[in-house]
Amino acid sequence: MMQTPFKRTSFLALLGLGLLTLACQITPIPSGRVDAARETGARAEATLETPTGIRGAAASAETHATLAAMQVLEEGGNAVDAAITLGFALAVTYPNAGNLGGGGFFLYRAPDGADWYLDFREVAPVAATREMYLGPDGEPDKAASTRGWKAAGVPGTVFGMWEAHQRWGKLPWERLVEPAAELAEYGFAISAAEAAALNRLRSSFGEDPRAAQVFVRADGRDWAEGDLLVQTQLASTLHAIALQGEEAFRTGPIVQATVAASKEGGGILLPEDFAEYEPLIRPVHRIAWRGLEVLTVTPPSSGSLFLAQMLPVLEEFPLATWGFRDPRTVQLIGEAEALAFRDRNRWLGDPASMERPWEDLIDPRYLRRRAVAELDPERYTPPPATAPQAPAESTETTHYSVVDAEGGAVAVTTTLNSSYGAKVMAPGGFLMNNEMDDFAAMPGRANQYGLVQSEANAVVARRRPLSSMSPVIVVRNGEVDAVLGSPGGPTILTTVLQVLLHRYVFEMAPEDAVAAPRFHRQDRPPVLRYEAGRLGRTTLQALQALGQPVRENAPIGDVNAIFRDGAEWAAVADPRRGGMGQVSVEGAIR
Ligand code: DON
Repeated sequence: MMQTPFKRTSFLALLGLGLLTLACQITPIPSGRVDAARETGARAEATLETPTGIRGAAASAETHATLAAMQVLEEGGNAVDAAITLGFALAVTYPNAGNLGGGGFFLYRAPDGADWYLDFREVAPVAATREMYLGPDGEPDKAASTRGWKAAGVPGTVFGMWEAHQRWGKLPWERLVEPAAELAEYGFAISAAEAAALNRLRSSFGEDPRAAQVFVRADGRDWAEGDLLVQTQLASTLHAIALQGEEAFRTGPIVQATVAASKEGGGILLPEDFAEYEPLIRPVHRIAWRGLEVLTVTPPSSGSLFLAQMLPVLEEFPLATWGFRDPRTVQLIGEAEALAFRDRNRWLGDPASMERPWEDLIDPRYLRRRAVAELDPERYTPPPATAPQAPAESTETTHYSVVDAEGGAVAVTTTLNSSYGAKVMAPGGFLMNNEMDDFAAMPGRANQYGLVQSEANAVVARRRPLSSMSPVIVVRNGEVDAVLGSPGGPTILTTVLQVLLHRYVFEMAPEDAVAAPRFHRQDRPPVLRYEAGRLGRTTLQALQALGQPVRENAPIGDVNAIFRDGAEWAAVADPRRGGMGQVSVEGAIR
């Protein structure tokens, strides 16, 4: 690891050359020199053509980031290397969810078949207290846990990427981080959707002078597609990370400035929060299903519990015979989801604080009993208590997938929680998360996703909040068969489940498995939400006839997945968020 001396070559120049090799159509950088790029504003803009002759594949929510990852694979980097580059690049080019100031889950299956789950989720600061998000009236203060410095947990991303590199990386660290630094320093052309998102949040960014300086145009105009977004402070921070590794986030000027800004902004971050943060290796949970092995992440993610309950329970019913849009299929999945969410919300949290082993909740006898006694595809079961108001669903977080030529695969879901996190920027030019809202500010009350959670997820210093983020890797006959994940708060769980069902039960082609309509139900509120116009009138009428409340929803999830498809990797970027410049780059398997 790390023996190759790093040769400082411009990423933008390499991107230009690399893309030519990838047979993508691009605007190459004229002389291959960064200076030239700076003068002309030239940028490497790739179209979505599939390159040929590549071994390995990548899929993410943003073009530059995916291509940067492919270039690492081209240079002989492994899936971990490419994922590190991709993650740092997203912190620049997809600032609503890509991050340095957030956290996430990293699932890795090594070429030798070993699997690893690296948890780099935010933790509650050492000064956090159970009541910190209750207002003077004793009620949860929504704004405090979602906006501004007080909403921020200790960010884990830099530590997580460093840990992944130390354990499994191949190319030099600096080589992997520099592409992001260059994208920040020289700028990149924003997509139409990014422009729209920045314009929409202009007044929010306006409340934070540092965020305003980066995300509100100095000339007062709206952002437009193709505008260059330059992030000078972020570039310096990334250069420091490239040179110093995680040390840049442990002590020193970046940490001091972040802690001072937090204090000034009413937050509670302290130097020891950064000095003591630990990315953790946790158990991967493997689910045997349909001759496959589904690798999932354990608490503080709820992915393992959810999938380990849902996949076997649904096997008790003939979904494939019914068809994926049949009312029985939809109602059954909704009912089973409600039960799974009930267990999730009741029992899960940081594993260090859970009073019951979560594995009890996937005991086959328990699941079987429940399938027989409580599930009926032609029945609507209301939740036991009064439902809280359905919240507006935020649409951020992001997932990326990578496979390499040796058979390694990485699935990473990462987030600032809400779109652009807490909407405050550290002096180092990175946005802070509002992950503290994933805790139950008051156990028994709904958070921004309407999730009503328990003591196991109350705010406690150094705890990690319960998450729905669920990176998944599917293995067939000892080889990686699929890599997937999604954003969407609690809808992440149903999204991942439904893509698995589409691919492996309904046997859809990779693109169709991702594109097929999705719907979501959780315990409370008991409404079945469906993507507007996509469930079919007959199905909806049948559900309503059962008494099932239904509601139209915006597109659910944003899956960036890779599937084995014959001798090729099929990398699929979800068509739902077309405007965000998503790209998937496919390649041959070996
Ligand atoms: O960890 C979680 O479950 C949430 N913080 C994820 C947030 C999310 O996906 C928001 N986007 N849609």
